Amino acid sequence: QPIHLSDYRPPAHRVTRTELTFDLDPGATRVKARLHLERHPEREAGEPLWLDGESLVLKSIAIDGQALDADEYEQSDNGLRVHRVPEQFILDTEVEIAPSENTALEGLYQSGGMYCTQCEAEGFRRITFYPDRPDVMATFTTTVIGGRDQEPVLLSNGNPVERGELPNGRHFVTWQDPHPKPCYLFALVAGDLKKVEDHFTTMSGREVTLQIWVEEENLGKTEHAMESLKRSMRWDEEAYGREYDLDLFMIVAVNDFNMGAMENKGLNIFNSAAVLTHPQTATDATFQRVEGIVAHEYFHNWSGNRVTCRDWFQLSLKEGFTVFRDQSFSADVNSAPVKRIEEVSFFRTAQFAEDAGPTAHPVRPDQYIEIGNFYTLTIYEKGAEIVRMLCNLVGEEKFREGSDLYFSRFDGQAVTIEDFVTCMAEVSGLDLTQFMHWYRQAGTPEIDAFGEYDYANGQYRLLLRQRTPATPGQSDKVPLHIPVRLGLVGTKSGRDLPLTLDGESLGTDAVVHLREQEQEFLFTDVDEAPIPSLLRGFSAPVKLAFPYSREDLAFLLANDSDGFNRWDAGQRLTLLALDDLIAAHRNGVEKVMDSRVVDAFRVLLEEDTNDKAVLAEMLTLPSEAYIAEQQPLVDVDAIHAAREFVRQSLARELRDELLAVYRANQSDAAYEPTPEQIGQRALKNVALSYLMSIEDEEGVEAAKAQFDADHNMTDVRHALTLLVHSSRADIADPALKAFGQKWANDTLVMDQWFSLQVTRPQPDALERVRYLMQHPAFSLKNPNKVRALIGAFAGQNRINFHRLDGEGYRLLADVVIELNRLNPEIAARIITPLTRWQRFDEQRQDLMKAELERIRQEDLSPNLYEVVTKALA
Ligand code: ARG
Ligand code: ZN
Repeated sequence: QPIHLSDYRPPAHRVTRTELTFDLDPGATRVKARLHLERHPEREAGEPLWLDGESLVLKSIAIDGQALDADEYEQSDNGLRVHRVPEQFILDTEVEIAPSENTALEGLYQSGGMYCTQCEAEGFRRITFYPDRPDVMATFTTTVIGGRDQEPVLLSNGNPVERGELPNGRHFVTWQDPHPKPCYLFALVAGDLKKVEDHFTTMSGREVTLQIWVEEENLGKTEHAMESLKRSMRWDEEAYGREYDLDLFMIVAVNDFNMGAMENKGLNIFNSAAVLTHPQTATDATFQRVEGIVAHEYFHNWSGNRVTCRDWFQLSLKEGFTVFRDQSFSADVNSAPVKRIEEVSFFRTAQFAEDAGPTAHPVRPDQYIEIGNFYTLTIYEKGAEIVRMLCNLVGEEKFREGSDLYFSRFDGQAVTIEDFVTCMAEVSGLDLTQFMHWYRQAGTPEIDAFGEYDYANGQYRLLLRQRTPATPGQSDKVPLHIPVRLGLVGTKSGRDLPLTLDGESLGTDAVVHLREQEQEFLFTDVDEAPIPSLLRGFSAPVKLAFPYSREDLAFLLANDSDGFNRWDAGQRLTLLALDDLIAAHRNGVEKVMDSRVVDAFRVLLEEDTNDKAVLAEMLTLPSEAYIAEQQPLVDVDAIHAAREFVRQSLARELRDELLAVYRANQSDAAYEPTPEQIGQRALKNVALSYLMSIEDEEGVEAAKAQFDADHNMTDVRHALTLLVHSSRADIADPALKAFGQKWANDTLVMDQWFSLQVTRPQPDALERVRYLMQHPAFSLKNPNKVRALIGAFAGQNRINFHRLDGEGYRLLADVVIELNRLNPEIAARIITPLTRWQRFDEQRQDLMKAELERIRQEDLSPNLYEVVTKALA
């Protein structure tokens, strides 16, 4: 059943032109397709024609105007074969589909009253019979017919070229997309939508009309997305020399959407949660996420659409590169150090866990059953880390040269990851052969580092040893080419010392290349004993261990010139303290707070720094999920107890400082999503979290006042969350109720209302989930609701999800079983926490496996089948 990369062959036939006509109807949409086909030049004559197709009712089929007899073709569950076809021909088909019954949200479906599509990766085969693979690229002409009243707006890719009225209250619009594209980039939207319009002039002077289409009540929530779009368009011109290539660029917001958004040519479709913002309804995090996703989808126009993937094994070619591009954009327009800290802390928690779990896979997988399961953190984020390493290896200038070469050489083609890396090797002259293993090898590499200062000779000897643990199906690993950025911080001066390696002077911050399993680096002319600052900026996606003492870490936290590593030193210091406390909890010994952590935090709080966002990050403790990642065996309760103990100890010891920081950073200024304001709110709210952890009277008052002030959603939601997560039901319950009533009609705010309740640490959280699943605003058919309620509970409420009575696991499995029928892609994602059973104690392991077994008894979709078999292997 799995498909293998090594089996790749070009298609027997290719499509040069595709003409589609949709006659929309909820239960019976007619799709006519006229395909201009020809034999692929690399394939022999006489091969049958294969067309993918699923859940389609075939109404007619003809070649060059001749209807086919029943014995001239054969239809199966997944497609249609025509036994004999000419060298070049026109195929006409007509099928019927039912968008209103499509709960999988792949292909053409209805969301609320509107029609929309999601074709990546293999949704187009649910729309019409077609060679549904990215290496088949055609120009598209699409006519959409709908009701004049019900679907006044009819959209597809490219430019509108004709529109008109039809009998029976119907009308049509014809769209033409001149750029050849694979069918996964096809899109159609129809409904009663309203638009906000703006304009952009490209660097060569092309006037582009920009439109954001939404339901009428959301017209006031598009401004930030529009501004983000214009910034992205300018940035891609300046940073990559990439210009937009049509006269029209459209974004549509839809409520029911499996992922964040989709880069369909000229017609990006967005989950409404990833595009709509307003100071009163969206938090700072949402504003930043929207900016990043708008940029990501826009950047795909080149990295993905103009140059696309040969096959889905190459998915990271477009996703890894595009994530790297959107990360660079966000770093440029916001606070770069904070952006990097956020990326890495997310990566080290979630991607490391994926890489260590049963579904671990290389950034370029060599096999899959269901490609929908491979839109993962590994393909996206680890893929981006690989591109970042490439950029750092060849240098920014050469990277730009390599990217220019890639876009010009492969424009209009469907290519491979090698094609991309080869461009970088060509322009830089570097040998990237060993580097390619990053794409082939799954698992997180581990580096053990040791250092020794030789006083007599003024030398520092650094030993690096790498190993990549075995992953499912990949037991033998080869050494990788790992760039390690580092500095040596003098213990006397507190400054970066000049680095001399093999007689070469490298400045004070350098990259060493670890290629062997074990390698020694001897730095000479080192005038004072140093503490090494390693893997600066997270220069490679690895785990690095060095036997730092707590004093070393406190020193780096105070002195490292690399902002990222200062933050990391703080995290490491706190983790050491947490280790002791976790052990104390397990052994029933009294917990004692490490005063070095308190002292370090006190210094941070008293420091007069301008970057409040960085300070907020430094004051944030590692999450329970990240702490769990560091433990050989996850003890859910000990981790929670230890972390709470640290939070409360810090709050008690630093109560006055925290309150002062809170007060100093309050502001009545009108809300703006600027880095300065966002940093200030973050700092203030971190301080408030500490105060609320001990339910300090003034802290509680401040939280209540912040909620009542109703200034912006960031502050309101944060205050409400702290109250709901506290024991102060007297304040929390009325606030929660008021909030729920106020926003009852705003589906995106209700998602937040759901999440903040089911993440509370109190033991009633699970009962709340079951109760809220009955709430009229909840629906299993809406992926955002599933994520807000079930996803948030299972992913973020660790102590309650992992309850020893197994009720958390049972609840998740119940939901997965229902979603298996409704929406296989979401089912296969939401199940993730259950697949990580290996990390827990035996009792929990048994409970989790029993639920996986119960799921396995069902009639599983390919998506769940693949994940569940891997999890139980
Ligand atoms: N290409 C889209 C993006 O990253 C994601 C599409 C995901 N589709 C899916 N069926 N998983 O921007
Ligand atoms: Zn993408």
